[in-house]
Amino acid sequence: MKKIAQPTVGVVGATGAVGRTIQSILAERDFPVEHLRLLASERSAGSVVDTPWGSVTIENLAEADPAGIDIAIFSAGGGRSREYAPRFVEAGAAVIDNSSAFRRDPDVPLVVAQVNDEAIESHKGIIANPNCTTMALMMAIAPLHRAAGIDRMVAMSYQATSGSGQQGMDTLERQIAELGTDRDALQHGVWKDPGGDLYQRPIGYNVLPMAGAITEAGHTDEEWKLVHETRKILDAPNIRVEPTCVRVPTMVGHGIAATMFFDRPMSGQEAKEILADAPGAQVWPDDHVPTPLDSAGIDDVLVGRIRETIGDPGGISLWAVGDNLRKGAALNTVQLAELLLDR
Ligand code: A2P
Repeated sequence: MKKIAQPTVGVVGATGAVGRTIQSILAERDFPVEHLRLLASERSAGSVVDTPWGSVTIENLAEADPAGIDIAIFSAGGGRSREYAPRFVEAGAAVIDNSSAFRRDPDVPLVVAQVNDEAIESHKGIIANPNCTTMALMMAIAPLHRAAGIDRMVAMSYQATSGSGQQGMDTLERQIAELGTDRDALQHGVWKDPGGDLYQRPIGYNVLPMAGAITEAGHTDEEWKLVHETRKILDAPNIRVEPTCVRVPTMVGHGIAATMFFDRPMSGQEAKEILADAPGAQVWPDDHVPTPLDSAGIDDVLVGRIRETIGDPGGISLWAVGDNLRKGAALNTVQLAELLLDR
């Protein structure tokens, strides 16, 4: 793998919720940016952004020349990644892609920093950043998998609206404001649909027990991502995963409640000890259970409610929550970029 010393970094989708977080994390972590290029749609092209590396004019992705970019971080949706990432690679860039476009491609490594760093070595130009829900879960379960081998897992997600991008947070804010003016109507089920084309049903004062769109076998694309990405990241193609992905009315912080059974029984004490030493994860005690609000704005994934299974003994149940814009997306892309550095 070619290592890079002082890269020119391109952020594609620079105006989005993740794209903006990528820029602040590059600055926070003192990433050695030689030159920063910001790319978005023609809607944003031409506007000027102040950055720690000087003023940068946003370029129109459709017209930009990728020559000179060493590391490109894409977070502008799968369509843009499919169309432009190969062109960037051809022009000499290593692409870290935050979309689902290449995650299942056997030639593209799918990497969670601090979990399977070594997988990046085999990249041929594109490196895939996992889905935000899978990412938080991996930080909590990969160490347990290494100790005892996960055989099967039931995982339920509680996904924040920022997982749907800026528009998700805007929809939540607007619907809470509109629906919140009439508590009586909410209590009696006569609320007026606040509308919005992002989610099929209101997310304000509500829970959507189906995050994503139904694809195969009655499962959503988000649920299939949990299945396939878990297997690929842990390099364990036989793990049986039963996912349910739910959208909840929070801004930031995806939570996952998971129950796992291993190749051998695991005690709650052992699970706690393993996770206490896990990089990038913090174990919180039962009298201070971590919530999505606790996770917002921080890098670590928070783990709580670690306990032994009761109906079928020998397994472990836990709760993990992580900032989906940071470790779930932007932070991991920057950590992957750090693995490409020559230092
Ligand atoms: P723009 O702001 O110009 O539309 P989010 O997921 O938070 O909504 O962000 C999506 C990001 O992807 C934004 O930066 C957005 O840019 C960018 N994007 C969306 N469509 C395109 C496109 N056709 N070409 C380039 N960038 C796009």
